[in-house]
Amino acid sequence: MNTENKKTFYITTPIYYPSGDPHIGHCYTTVACDTISRYKRMQGYDVMFLTGTDEHGQKIEQKAEAAGVTPKEFVDRIVATFKELWSYMNISYDRFIRTTDGYHVSAVQKIFKDLYDRGYIYKGKYSGKYCTPCESFWTESQLDENGCCPECHRPVKIAEEEAYFFKMSPFSDRLEKLLLETDYLNPRTRAVELVNNFIKPGLEDVCVSRTSFKWGIPVTFDEKHVVYVWIDALSNYITALGYDNDEYDDFAKYWPADVHMVAKDIMRFHALIWPAMLMALDIPLPKQLAVHGWITFQSKTGEAQKMSKSLGNVVDPLMLGKRYGVDSIRYHILREMALGADSAFSNEIMINRINSDLANGFGNLVSRTVAMADKYFGGTLPEEREAAEIDDSLIGELTALRDITDKCIDETRLKNALEAIFTAVDRANKYIDETEPWKLGKDESKRARLASVLYNLLESIRIISTLLAPFMPTMMPKVWEQIGAAESDASYDNAAGFGVLPANVTVHKGEILFPRIDLDKEIAELNAIIEKNMETAKAKLEAESADENTPENSDIPALLPEITIDDFAKLDIRAAKVLSVEKVKKSDKLLCFRLDDGMGGRQVVSGIAEYYTPEELTGKTVQIIANLKPIKLRGVESLGMICSADTADGVKVLFLDDSIPAGSKIR
Ligand code: MSP
Repeated sequence: MNTENKKTFYITTPIYYPSGDPHIGHCYTTVACDTISRYKRMQGYDVMFLTGTDEHGQKIEQKAEAAGVTPKEFVDRIVATFKELWSYMNISYDRFIRTTDGYHVSAVQKIFKDLYDRGYIYKGKYSGKYCTPCESFWTESQLDENGCCPECHRPVKIAEEEAYFFKMSPFSDRLEKLLLETDYLNPRTRAVELVNNFIKPGLEDVCVSRTSFKWGIPVTFDEKHVVYVWIDALSNYITALGYDNDEYDDFAKYWPADVHMVAKDIMRFHALIWPAMLMALDIPLPKQLAVHGWITFQSKTGEAQKMSKSLGNVVDPLMLGKRYGVDSIRYHILREMALGADSAFSNEIMINRINSDLANGFGNLVSRTVAMADKYFGGTLPEEREAAEIDDSLIGELTALRDITDKCIDETRLKNALEAIFTAVDRANKYIDETEPWKLGKDESKRARLASVLYNLLESIRIISTLLAPFMPTMMPKVWEQIGAAESDASYDNAAGFGVLPANVTVHKGEILFPRIDLDKEIAELNAIIEKNMETAKAKLEAESADENTPENSDIPALLPEITIDDFAKLDIRAAKVLSVEKVKKSDKLLCFRLDDGMGGRQVVSGIAEYYTPEELTGKTVQIIANLKPIKLRGVESLGMICSADTADGVKVLFLDDSIPAGSKIR
């Protein structure tokens, strides 16, 4: 598909739900994709890095309603916070797609129709467990431990809804081959689990439309349906390039994608449904699906918890970035997470990591080297040199580093790339201990040797900082400034060779790049923040569950002010038999009852025609308020009132046991 003869690279993050503010978990994929994009740009690729937001669906519709705004107003605010965070985290995306963008909406409609025309989408009946208050269907495995709704924990009922389905079975064999015999899924270890759990038992067709809510992309040929949010969302990877729309024209240039990066919870959609959709549309498949684990929160007791707003344990990347610098946070999350495994976030691990690797390791290497060049040579190295055998292993290791990081980037192993880079940092620090420049500095006859040692250190730093720049883009230009490297010196091409800086390079002593963090003080402050968040979240949960039980917040109306027994005694409540019932003329609501009240009979008018037919009521025993002042309804006299209950399913008459004689007093 790639028609131009230019090296292109297309990488995507998932598009995020703008249902709540972003947290450090969302940052992982985005920072990882940003790092790979920067590395590939440095290698000379024409990169397209796509991210965005997934804005449709019932959840958003409900949250917007609760907030008293339209769904679009609701998502606009949160999308803005995502964009602010990405800008703060120095994310160099090339395109940002919103699924509410007009071009995407019409392209999804075309894709849906195309799949329908090709015979892969058909109309059927969706039958499942339905929760009426949440208006949601759930599968058996999603129900809670009592078989109730996993959201509100109320009972569910079996319900049916007309829906469109996407056929998965025609793609079983190709999907199995894709997962087991190609490099599509990274890491491959997850392929067997997918094949055994989903393909072998027989792929189920996917329900791809909904009629129970409105906030989605309408199906053009059946407008009461909206497109299932995953079909809408997955399509973003091609609509953002201009597939089925005129907004962009990059599909031929960038497709197929080189890397889709996602976390494990959405692997199934990307490993089965997405390739099946592409197969159905006759579009080539993406090259790699890189799946990482979650950043979990390590609690005080050491247990790994899923980050969740309701637990108050979500880690705010903005707050951390402001305290320790954006690059340190980027470094920490990339250094901790191995592809395929979860990584537990703890403030202590983060601070120790920043202190040991960045302050003591790399920062110290730069500051010592620059300080020595300053001290012994006034900042500018002399051109004379004296090499020694000990230099060879340093130069050998440093010039081999780029090949290692290249391979790690291609295999999406960012943690391993950083490990290799920091092994080189340790190697360079060890070279300082081996060559003891402070001793050379005391001996005028060792000037040339000292210049060689410092030059080798500056060159090591140049290579290290060049390869680190995609990971830590804010700080590396400051390093180049300090070691006297022009930006062109810190290029990919120069990163596998020594001898790039001018022999008489001038260094510039500058600020401390990564100040050491006071662990105890910071931990105390961060723990206080987390504890406060957790308390607030707990109080909020308690208030919400109390609210749920208070009449004001449920369908149950509030209690009326208290009355005395004497007040109650003023009501004359009686049993009565329904002799006959007629509709009141010119009224849709009113029914006129002839009642045997044990006192000679009476006529009562009641507004329940929407809920009962006359036949359903005749012969029943009901309860009436017998001493209500008579009134006329539509000109018909009513002597009393029939008691009934207001329920979520409408008005229900209070029928009495038929053995209760007409006229019996009720108290
Ligand atoms: N909208 C879908 C994706 C559609 S892609 C066509 C979605 N959005 S999400 O906002 O809920 O999640 C986006 C990504 O962030 C997912 O890969 C999700 O797993 C990831 N993460 C959310 N919390 C995370 C952590 N705590 N750690 C790592 N990744 C996390 O799913």
